[in-house]
Amino acid sequence: MANSAITSFTLWLGLVILYATQTVHVTAFWPGGRSTRFYDFKVQTMKITKLCNTKDIVTINGMYPGPVVYAQEDDRVIVRVTNESPYNATIHWHGVRQKLSCWSDGPSYITQCPIQTGHTFTYEFTLLQQKGTLLWHAHVSWLRATVHGAIVIYPKTGVPYPFVYPYEEHIIILGEYWLRDVVQLEQAVLASGGGPPPADAFTINGHPGPNYNCSSNDVYKIDVVPGKTYLLRLINAGLNMENFFAIANHKLTIVEADAEYTKPFTTDRVMLGPGQTINVLVTANQPIGRYSMGMGPYMSAQNVPFQSITSIAYFQYLGAMPYSLSLPAPLPSFSDNLAVKTVMDGLKSLNPVSVPKEIDSNLFITIGLNVQKCNSKTPQQNCQGSNGGIMAASMNNISFIRPSISLLEAYYEHINGYYSEDFPGVPLKFYDFVNGAPNSIPIDTQSLRGTRTKVLEFGSRVQLILQDTGTVTTENHPIHLHGYSFYVVGYGTGNYNPQTANLNLVDPPYMNTIGVPVGGWAAIRFVADNPGVWFMHCHLEIHLSWGLSVVFIVKNGQGELETLPHPPADLPRC
Ligand code: C2O
Repeated sequence: MANSAITSFTLWLGLVILYATQTVHVTAFWPGGRSTRFYDFKVQTMKITKLCNTKDIVTINGMYPGPVVYAQEDDRVIVRVTNESPYNATIHWHGVRQKLSCWSDGPSYITQCPIQTGHTFTYEFTLLQQKGTLLWHAHVSWLRATVHGAIVIYPKTGVPYPFVYPYEEHIIILGEYWLRDVVQLEQAVLASGGGPPPADAFTINGHPGPNYNCSSNDVYKIDVVPGKTYLLRLINAGLNMENFFAIANHKLTIVEADAEYTKPFTTDRVMLGPGQTINVLVTANQPIGRYSMGMGPYMSAQNVPFQSITSIAYFQYLGAMPYSLSLPAPLPSFSDNLAVKTVMDGLKSLNPVSVPKEIDSNLFITIGLNVQKCNSKTPQQNCQGSNGGIMAASMNNISFIRPSISLLEAYYEHINGYYSEDFPGVPLKFYDFVNGAPNSIPIDTQSLRGTRTKVLEFGSRVQLILQDTGTVTTENHPIHLHGYSFYVVGYGTGNYNPQTANLNLVDPPYMNTIGVPVGGWAAIRFVADNPGVWFMHCHLEIHLSWGLSVVFIVKNGQGELETLPHPPADLPRC
């Protein structure tokens, strides 16, 4: 007994030392960066014609998708954003861990007030120990629909990829296209109380492909050389849908997810929720021809209308007849949960990782939809949700209400009255979340509303169980955490049960967005060692609009390297 206690103490001490040395390695120097990359972003409207329809869209520098931010690991990135559009704007660097640079994170009313028309704000951050594919996007209203682009971070000079060197690399951005103005669309959907209409088209690098109205020439194409291997950097920048991606007759080998290397995993298709990125290797080893790259819907919820037409791009061999028929991409059916699980099961960190074993803060958060009671005098117009109610969404049954000033400023400047610190670490009521969820709409499906935050001590080791609920409908929710990557140590269907949950503490994937299985749960772990105000939310934009989010406040630690610096002088005012 005594012996084993000593052994486990030594083991524990060993872990602490191991952990401590790694922490020192991470924060022993101010994250100033190696070389510096400057970018100039102008938020501009531009006329575009798609699906035989001409409209104004918001872009960066008149590009759709927007410019690529290229950098290397540990580089400093400086992006000056000038808003020349009539809308409020901010840019979020999705997946950038923003060590000690919370002011540059970008979510509107969380870390900054929006950049108003005619104003400029300069984002500055270091890609500290990050490499791979990420994305940047607008974080105001639904502007992300057209204001998005790739971040490509190469390894340091002289450091190779841990896989065969590709002949060429291509960025593939999956998106959703709307004929309506997306800012007005969000307002109209919220005013209706009901759900959003489906997108008018899916797009691959901005092109819908031949399957839609009037789109036969609006197709993206990659020319490939027979026998060569290509690296495709897949990004889902869509608003309200999760998507499958596949290439006819070709296998995809996943080598990276959310900008972290994975053990190579070969599959026929992948699923990406909005905000997720996956790098795959594809070898052009088929007979010369033209093959379809297809993007289709993954919809795990019940009774939600969605775009079901596949967006197609071409994977075209040199030497193929230009108008040869292309083989269709083998996309799974829209409700194929098993296909999603198979991809998730294949995601493992390339190398063993140091997952926190002891937990200081054990949180349990339910995620799901709600229906609020209709109090409107014009229910026909404003209560179009299920059973004549108003749609909402929540975490631990609390719908997040966006404040009217930046929460980070309120916290930093001690301005009272804009938020509370009482977000509960466990649900207010325990029940059979998946199957026995309250669903007599709207009597017991309502959420509470508030700008509640959860405070975390600097350095605390956090485990977070995300549990989907069956209130209204179960659904796969892509939950994104700002300011951190986290280890996905477990997931499953049904209600989380600590007795039976099987956790991977050896080589779990290190991600920034996790698709919590429909009617299931996911367990994530991270060390809260980055001070600031960090948003966590469902990356389906309509769910964010409905309140499926929470804010973590991570306190300062000790000394300059654990303390959030002063705000930049040009921080926008509300
Ligand atoms: Cu990519 Cu807060 O989001």
